[in-house]
Amino acid sequence: MLQGKNIVLGVSGGIAAYKAAALCSALVKAGASVDVIMTENAAKFVGPMTFSTLTGHSVSVDTFARVEKYDVSHIALAQKADLFAVAPATANIIAKMAHGIADDMLSTTLLASRAPKLVAAAMNTGMLDNPATQANIATLRGWGVEFIDGSDGRLACGDVGRGRMAEPEEIVDRMERMLTPKDLEGKRVLVTAGPTREALDPVRFLSNHSTGKMGYALARAARNRGAQVTLVSGPVGLQAPADVVLVPVVSAQEMFEAVRRELSGADIIIKAAAVADYAPKAEEPEKMKKTDQDLTLELTRTRDILSWIGHHRRPGQVVVGFAMETRDLLENAAQKLAAKNTDLMVANSLRQEGAGFGVDTNIVTLLTRDGAEELPLMSKFEVANRILDRVLALAE
Ligand code: CTP
Repeated sequence: MLQGKNIVLGVSGGIAAYKAAALCSALVKAGASVDVIMTENAAKFVGPMTFSTLTGHSVSVDTFARVEKYDVSHIALAQKADLFAVAPATANIIAKMAHGIADDMLSTTLLASRAPKLVAAAMNTGMLDNPATQANIATLRGWGVEFIDGSDGRLACGDVGRGRMAEPEEIVDRMERMLTPKDLEGKRVLVTAGPTREALDPVRFLSNHSTGKMGYALARAARNRGAQVTLVSGPVGLQAPADVVLVPVVSAQEMFEAVRRELSGADIIIKAAAVADYAPKAEEPEKMKKTDQDLTLELTRTRDILSWIGHHRRPGQVVVGFAMETRDLLENAAQKLAAKNTDLMVANSLRQEGAGFGVDTNIVTLLTRDGAEELPLMSKFEVANRILDRVLALAE
C-alpha cells in the first residue's frame, strides 16, 4: 500500500523524535518515498543526518536562514504528498495547525498542503489534557485531520499517563489504512482465524499448526478497505489489528457459538480458521496420570462450522472457506465448495514451499462455481486482498 507513495513526515521537538527515525525507516522499507521536515527544536533531539541517510533525501530544518529564504521546492513537495504525517507532534505544532499559523518551515508547509494529514501527538499529560490542546485537537479532527493515540505509559518527564507517541508500527499501519480506497465501506466482515484447542485434561490439548497469519491478514485488509470487522480467533501469538472487534475463543465449540452469535450481522463470512475436526469425548477434570500401558483416546466429531454457516446463511451473504490439503488439492477443494455451500474456496497445498502454516506467504487457488484462478506466490496480505476482490465481485 505504501509502495511508491510520497510521504512527508514532519518531526517536531520532543524526545519521541528518536522514534520518528524508526518510523522513517519502516516507511522506506515499505517502498514509500519520504521527505522529512524538522523543526529547529526537533533537530536538538535527533540530527537531520539520521533522516537524510534513512530517506536518501535532503532534510529541511528550520534555521533562521532557512525561514528567511523559504524553500519553494518544499511547497511543491507538500502539494504532491499523498499523506502528510506529523510524528511526534507537540502541543505547539498542533496549536499552529489549528490556528493557521505559519511561522516556520513545518507549519508553513502544513498550511500549504492539501494532503490527508495524520498527527501522532507526544507530550506531557498535563499539556494534552489542557482545554486549549483538546480544543485544538477537536478543531483539527473536525477538518478531517486524523490523530493516532499512543498507549498509556511512562513519559520522559516521569509522569505516567496519556501522551506517549504511538509506536512506529501502529503509525505505519494507520497510514496504510488511510491510503487504501474504501471499497468495503459499510460492509460487515466476519473472519475466523487460528487453530482451536481441544482439551484432554487441565494440562493437555489437541490442536494444529495454524498461527492465524492468513486470518489476521484478512481482517487487516478488510479493515483497511473500510469494512467493520469482527475477528473470531483461536489462541495465536498475534496482535489483533486496531479497530477490529476481537472475539477470542479456544475450542471448536466456542468458535461455533461465537460464529452463531455473529452470523446474522455479517455480509461477508471468511472461515480461515483451522478448526479441529475431533475433540476428546470428555475433558478429564484432573491431570491424567500415566500408567505402564499404552493409551487410546476416544474422540468425538466437532461441528463443521463452515458447513453450518453454508446451510444457515441468508440471501446476500457471501461465504468463503479455506481448504488445506496435502494431495488432490483442486478435487478436494471443489468437493468442499459444494458440500459446505460456499461461494468461494481458497485452496492451498501444504506440500508447496512458501505456502501453509507459519509463513508470511501463500500460494492459493481461488475456486468458485465458475472455475479456478491460480495465484502465484505472494504475501498473505496480498492474498487477502485478492480474496476480497473476488468477494466484492461475487457480492455485485
Ligand atoms: N471447518 C469448519 N469447521 C470444522 C472443520 C473445518 O468450519 N469443524 C472449515 C475451515 O475453517 C475451512 C474449511 O472448513 O474453511 C475446510 O477445512 P479443512 O480442514 O480443509 O477441511 P475439513 O472440512 O476439515 O475436511 P478434511 O479434514 O477431511 O480435509
